[in-house]
Amino acid sequence: MRDGFRVHRSRISAKTIRAAAMPTEAKPVVIPEELEPLFPARVVSGVQPSPAGIHLGNYFGAVVTHMRLQHEYPGDSFYLIADYHALTMERDADAIRAGTTCLALDYMAAGLDPDKSTLYRQSDVPQICELMWLLACITRKTRLDRAHAYQTATARGELPSAGLFLYPALMAADILALRGTDVPVGHDQQQHLEIAREIARGFNGLWGSVFPVPYLRATTTPLVLGIDGQKMSKSYHNTLPVFWDDSEAFEARVSHIVTESAALGEPTDPERSTVFSLYQLVAAPDAISEMRGGLADGSLGFAEAKRLLLHALVRHFAPLHERRRELASDGEYIADVLREGARRVREEAEATLDIVRDRVGLSQYRRRLL
Ligand code: ADP
Ligand code: TRP
Repeated sequence: MRDGFRVHRSRISAKTIRAAAMPTEAKPVVIPEELEPLFPARVVSGVQPSPAGIHLGNYFGAVVTHMRLQHEYPGDSFYLIADYHALTMERDADAIRAGTTCLALDYMAAGLDPDKSTLYRQSDVPQICELMWLLACITRKTRLDRAHAYQTATARGELPSAGLFLYPALMAADILALRGTDVPVGHDQQQHLEIAREIARGFNGLWGSVFPVPYLRATTTPLVLGIDGQKMSKSYHNTLPVFWDDSEAFEARVSHIVTESAALGEPTDPERSTVFSLYQLVAAPDAISEMRGGLADGSLGFAEAKRLLLHALVRHFAPLHERRRELASDGEYIADVLREGARRVREEAEATLDIVRDRVGLSQYRRRLL
């Protein structure tokens, strides 16, 4: 601990010769562990905006943990609205605009405290794009070929854009521009974080220790299942929203959760049930035990289990819905939070970029020009 903050030391051992990320003859640098800089702990994470708002996967896989960490690291928790990332797939400008406002409201309703956390739009910080380019230049193309977002699009027969290909480099820039040390993300983003770690090591190996190597912070539920029993994701159209307007449509979605075909009275394995896995996220412990027992001995049918799940979801999210309604009635409030977030992050990112530009050889003449 230092000044009340946990400090991180890069995990690379004293004797490790760090291979540069570039396949060139650039010399790797050996930095003895005692000379590795200590970086104050800083949380950085983000979510892509969508007009449909956050879903249960985003909430339990990321946002709940973000809200907890803001109290552990007040003043050093940064959450970004990843609109540049969203543009790798989204072509509808209104969807980007609506999704941005919606995500800011969702975060605030979920409990984001602007005195503890900084909420900002990625596109308000141009330094992120500048850093992304510098990082892309030291990242092997073959490493990005294997990245999850790009692979998924290719497997679906899509023709991925260069932006989607560079997605992990952009995510690395988000984290490293702020010199983030702790990154709370769900299971699906862990590979992208691993790439960010490699990029940080690669940069440090070439130009000296500028960046901490960021760590994964485990989230409450790294994998939340969707109504089809697969990973819940916007891209798979299997989500349950956290904030729904239309109660009937929401009820219909809950009733469409896939289940085993079992007759009433027939025992089923609760641990293999999507309904039960979702119920565990929102119900009280004794209610959870009751559902487990009922499914296991066959006394509880899936129609009734879904009804219990629906009620538990409504009860769990009612206070958040209330808070969101209040926040939505003051349009200026969100704008102010995002403006202040952008100001703070630009300042931090510019300080990082000052060092980075100097290390890579871009700072010469710069001050005279500005
Ligand atoms: P989506 O997959 O719907 O596009 P994002 O990629 O924007 O969601 O995810 C934002 C955050 O929510 C990430 O940290 C991600 O790991 C987490 N997340 C998304 N879906 C799930 C899920 N089904 N289970 C756990 N975490 C998830
Ligand atoms: N790519 C992440 C996702 O889709 C969102 C994101 C963007 C992010 N930049 C980040 C997460 C930086 C953690 C850190 O879920």
